[in-house]
Amino acid sequence: MSTNTPRKRVLITGCSSGFGLLTAVEAAKAGYDVIATMRNMKKADYLEKALNQAGVTAVIEHLDVTDKAQIAQIAKKHSPVDVLVNNAGMSILGSFLDITDEEMSRVFETNYFGVVAMTRAMVPGMIKAGSGLVINVTSLAGRIGHPFNATYSATKHALVGFCRSIRVELEPFNVHVVSVEPGYHKTEILRANVNITENFYNPDSPMLQYNRGFLRLMRDVIIPHAGEAQHVVRTILRVMQKSHPRPHYLVGRDAHFAIAARWLGLIGLAEKEVRHKLEVAARRETRRAEGKRKRRRGADKES
Ligand SMILES: NC(=O)c1ccc[n+]([C@@H]2O[C@H](COP(=O)([O-])OP(=O)(O)OC[C@H]3O[C@@H](n4cnc5c(N)ncnc54)[C@H](OP(=O)(O)O)[C@@H]3O)[C@@H](O)[C@H]2O)c1
Repeated sequence: MSTNTPRKRVLITGCSSGFGLLTAVEAAKAGYDVIATMRNMKKADYLEKALNQAGVTAVIEHLDVTDKAQIAQIAKKHSPVDVLVNNAGMSILGSFLDITDEEMSRVFETNYFGVVAMTRAMVPGMIKAGSGLVINVTSLAGRIGHPFNATYSATKHALVGFCRSIRVELEPFNVHVVSVEPGYHKTEILRANVNITENFYNPDSPMLQYNRGFLRLMRDVIIPHAGEAQHVVRTILRVMQKSHPRPHYLVGRDAHFAIAARWLGLIGLAEKEVRHKLEVAARRETRRAEGKRKRRRGADKES
């Protein structure tokens, strides 16, 4: 950014970890005035430390994107901004048969309605200012199905549809809308922030061993092969600096592979491969559970 032009202002949600935290730091390093928001201010230390280490600063604000009053306060205080990065998100793993209604609502309130509310709060300021950019961190899960994460995938599909629709509505006002669509990347959503449905281990569910198998697949295959978070952050920064960004940006080898497979009419093969891996993992879990039961019975008999 040139030193003569005023610094652009970017507001980012979900900055306590992962892409949000790293984007806040990188945007500050690139010369933006950063408003980094997070729902749990007890986690602000991580961001503060990262900003300090990089020798930059940001305004850190409390914001839960499911709280309309907090959103209104943030908009009143900080609108207009040049860029809004709707990054906050969560998932709750488990079969769609096991996830509760309350859990589904929570994921939708955060990943979909939270983004809609933030966008509705910040876009009027951009329209008044004559320009703006909304970057929504959606997901590959918004372009293809993600078994055992169906609610998450549904929220991200909804979000991709929202982006595609409002992009056209906002074009006349010089406000751009971009969907950044990462495949799996190493952030806290795959580590400390992994949530599973409260019915994940329900012994009466026909999905029990599949749920367990999916978790094992996550640990043994998906997480070790996940991309580095910085790749996504670099894309977000690149988009922020473009005057005419594209509507969609896929990030990650898995994302490019899956979408290319769909284009080539081969998504059925990719799904078959996923199904096979899930079957193998579920069978392994069933054997493990049986082995455990036998060992327990043996120990009971001995005692
Ligand atoms: N990592 C991946 O593989 C991947 C792939 C595709 C898309 N994504 C998307 O990328 C975005 C960022 O996730 P991440 O991968 O960086 O994971 P992360 O490290 O878990 O970060 C998620 C962030 O969202 C915040 N958040 C959750 N609910 C919130 C709420 N109600 N209000 C405000 N903030 C909230 C979390 O805050 P707390 O710390 O308080 O929980 C955290 O700061 C998400 O939208 C996610 O769906 C991630």
